[in-house]
Amino acid sequence: MTRVLVLNGPNLGRLGRRQPEIYGHTTLDELAELCRGWGAEHGFDVVFEQTNHEGVLLDRLNEAADDATPVVLNAAAWTHYSWAIFDACAQLTAPLVEVHLSDPAQRPEEFRHTSVVTPHAAAVIAGHGVDGYRLALEHLAAALR
Ligand code: DQA
Repeated sequence: MTRVLVLNGPNLGRLGRRQPEIYGHTTLDELAELCRGWGAEHGFDVVFEQTNHEGVLLDRLNEAADDATPVVLNAAAWTHYSWAIFDACAQLTAPLVEVHLSDPAQRPEEFRHTSVVTPHAAAVIAGHGVDGYRLALEHLAAALR
């Protein structure tokens, strides 16, 4: 089985309760379960994590670089300004898929219109809610085939 990291950044721990009109009603635990199931359909062993601590996300990305592990990344607000995450993503050699529940490009706040992840991503999937994670895993499966 191919190990795949599904990594989630700050505030996504409150999924289901956080601005559900934007991010939906599915909780993080439910999303983790969905991702494990969707991943298994492609022969992936999905390791699903969320952190509010940037250093933890950097450690995971550095490990993924060491092990050439494919990554699905929702870096949440860090997407828009973390040059450390830009540098960490640059080191990945296996495919990286950027995912967002909402479509940041269509949202009114200007700061959401920039992504430090996109330059390193094989694909960007945004605005599909939790289904975007299914699409991201599908994209990885196609990229690794
Ligand atoms: C998000 C979009 C970001 O702009 C925001 O900061 C998030 C979540 C999304 O999944 O839609 O925290 O990445």
